This record gives sequence, structure tokens and C-alpha cells, in this order.
Amino acid sequence: MRSITSLDELRSSRLSLDGTVGLAPTMGFLHEGHLSLIRRARDECDHVVVSIFVNPTQFGANEDLSKYPRDIERDLKLIEPLTDLVWMPTAEIMYPQGYQTWVEVEAIASPLEGTMRPGHFKGVTTVVAKLFNGVQPHKAYFGQKDAQQAAVIRQMVRDLNFPIEIVVCPIVREADGLAMSSRNVYLDPEQRKAATGLFRSLSAAKDLYENGERNAEKIRRKMKDVLADEPLAKVQYVSCADYDTLEELDAINGKALLSMAVFIGKTRLIDNFVLG
Ligand code: PAJ
Repeated sequence: MRSITSLDELRSSRLSLDGTVGLAPTMGFLHEGHLSLIRRARDECDHVVVSIFVNPTQFGANEDLSKYPRDIERDLKLIEPLTDLVWMPTAEIMYPQGYQTWVEVEAIASPLEGTMRPGHFKGVTTVVAKLFNGVQPHKAYFGQKDAQQAAVIRQMVRDLNFPIEIVVCPIVREADGLAMSSRNVYLDPEQRKAATGLFRSLSAAKDLYENGERNAEKIRRKMKDVLADEPLAKVQYVSCADYDTLEELDAINGKALLSMAVFIGKTRLIDNFVLG
């Protein structure tokens, strides 16, 4: 595995990779969720590139950029057997003095996470476009954990004609259902228990759906009720939305996305299930 930082090193290393290239973009502090993307890339492509970059432009002013967890040595050990190239640019490389170009997706980036985290997706799409231009992968791997992010990236790739196939991989969960996340390390033992409320809430809503309920408001109500039983959980939003447009539904007719953002203490967790 070759570790590189600068764009010049990236360009010359990229030229030496023959055949298909798969990219897994990450912000590091890797866990099994990230590794599932990298393994899938390994299975499907001749070469695997991983990027590790805590992208400052996707964090809001009151978010956790400065304390975002990092452990590069551990990350490198984890990905070494699976990866040809790891690109770890600095913020100065990605956003040099005088930087002024942004990529912004409209409608699908505006509800849910887009409403709660203004500017977040503008930072994500800009950095992902830059990662795509640098690495020039044939395929890029994203997690269903960030369902709206995956939808926004797909839209960007269609709209800007990136010749890249976006592969979305299933959510990897802990044994008790909590979706793996780099941010789970912020949780103390009591909060860690409360964090299972997200999975229980989504599961209860799915049970309701499987028993024939198609009223989206009743499904949202169920998710809120389960979360309300968890004193440490503060709901930011629960959603039952059209899978393609992410617009809130009245009735579920086709594929739907159940999603939520919940604070457990100061830690903001997101999770989702797909129905239908
Ligand atoms: P990060 O949060 O590090 O996640 C990197 C990728 O891993 C994302 O595509 C995310 O959806 C996926 N992932 C995280 N947890 C997962 C889980 N439990 N199961 C499956 N996949 C999981 O998402 C980002 O970084 C950034 O926004 C990035 C795309 C790198 C742009 O900066």
C-alpha cells in the first residue's frame, strides 16, 4: 500500500494503476462500516484507493470538526491488506489560499440533513468532486448509512457527467443494532445503551409497515413514540419520505426511506431503513 499526500504524487501513482480503480472516500477513524466498502471495492475492482480526509467544509460552525476522532496509524493498519493507494491530502492541498469553487446539488440536498446542517452537502459534494477528479476511479463506494449523502452524490454524478459508477453498500451494525459510526466513540456507557433507541424505533416502524400500515404520519408517530421512551434521546427529525425525491409522504405507495437524526447527549446520530 502506498501512502500519498500531494496531488503530484497522486497523479503519478494513479498513472501506474492499470485496469479498474475503486475509490472509498472516508474521513478516517475507520470501522467495519468503512471496511465493508473497501472490501466490496477489492472484490469488484483491480485496484483500490482509499481517501482519508476530515473535510472542514462539511462541518458547521457548531459541529465537531476540531474534536472529530482521528487515529491514522490504526486506520493504515486496518486498510493495508485491502488497499493499493491511500490518499491523505491536507486541508491546504484541498482548499489552498484563494479557493472559490463549489459544487452544489439542489432539491435532493435540501430536506432532512440539508435542513438541519445548512452548507453540509455543499461541502460534501465539493470535496467528493475533488476526490473524483484527483483519483479518477471507475467506481466509488458509499454507505447506505448516509442515505441522503449517497442520493446527493448520485445526483451530482448524473448532472456533472462523471464517468463513475456509484455503489451503495448496506449499513453495518453492532450486535444490538446500533449503526456503526466514527462518532459512537463519543458515547459513554449509559448513552451507548440509549443509542439503540434509533434501531428500535426504526424496527417498530418497519413492523407497523409490515403489518399493513401505509399512513406515513402514523409511521412517523411510531418512531417518535419509541424514541420518547428513551430519556437520553432528543429527536431532531424523524422522516418517512419518498425514496427517490426524499419528500415527506402522506401515504406509502412505493419505496420509502425511514430516517432520523437524534442527539444522545451532545452526539448527533443518524440512521435509516428502506421500506418496500
Ligand atoms: P465517513 O463518515 O468517514 O464515511 C465514509 C463512508 O463510510 C460513507 O460513504 C459512509 O456512508 C460509510 N459508512 C459509515 N458508517 C457506515 C456503516 N455503519 N455501514 C456502512 N457504511 C458506512 O461520509 C463521509 O465520511 C464523508 O461525508 C465523505 C463522503 C468522505 C466526504 O467527506
